[in-house]
Amino acid sequence: MLMSKNGQKGIFRFQHGYANVNHTALLNHLIKLYGFCTYLEIGVRRRSSNYNSVAVEHKIVVDPDPTAEADYVTDSDTFFHSICDQQFDLIYIDGSHLAEQVEKDIENSLKVLHERGVILMHDCNPPTKFHAREEYEVNGTRPAWNGTVWKAFAKFRKTRSDLEMYVIDTDWGCGFIRRGSQSTINHCIASYEDLENNRKEILNLISVEQFLAAHPVSWKAKIKTKIREILSRSKRH
Ligand SMILES: C[S@@+](CC[C@H](N)C(=O)[O-])C[C@H]1O[C@@H](n2cnc3c(N)ncnc32)[C@H](O)[C@@H]1O
Repeated sequence: MLMSKNGQKGIFRFQHGYANVNHTALLNHLIKLYGFCTYLEIGVRRRSSNYNSVAVEHKIVVDPDPTAEADYVTDSDTFFHSICDQQFDLIYIDGSHLAEQVEKDIENSLKVLHERGVILMHDCNPPTKFHAREEYEVNGTRPAWNGTVWKAFAKFRKTRSDLEMYVIDTDWGCGFIRRGSQSTINHCIASYEDLENNRKEILNLISVEQFLAAHPVSWKAKIKTKIREILSRSKRH
């Protein structure tokens, strides 16, 4: 197993084929395995880094930065409260990195998530206190930053027994949330030291192999996807 400070690395076999593990590979695995058609990304910045590679029929991106390549140039709160009129199979949360806002993003995403849909979140497993700082910029530079996303994730681990939740130990910690069940935690989550003392339990941290064992590559899903592709192609002609 190849490890780096931001988690496992290496090539794995996903539903869409062999690929280097990162959040994009996890998103595409879920899309192909579960036949997901609708995708929302909160926080996009450049489309080339993830969005363009997400192979799904309908996708929407939201980002308040006018220089970002978003469909909706607005913050996630405004999008959820005033614009969003549909439900999604898959939501990728990678906008604000501050716990208070991320908590709202999870709460609002759950309201527009299809019954069997999945939320994936970036930056859930900061490797050091420095990565978990509140400010992005340090002396005019922008070193790697996970912010306090982990705290928002951990809050739902404490309070929501109706959700299935874990963090896949790759690409700065990819948080997985869907409806289901979990044993909630009682740990204190006030400081980074609390995370460090009980990281595995607080995040329900799992390996890429464990994730793939829980969502195994399926021939049935492959055949279903092929049929769907042929049908949608014939509809277009
Ligand atoms: C880390 S970047 C996104 C990277 C992208 N998702 C990717 O995978 O390449 C974070 C983006 O979130 C945006 N953002 C910050 N606060 C936000 C909010 N409240 N709602 C939506 N986007 C937000 C920022 O403007 C920034 O462009």
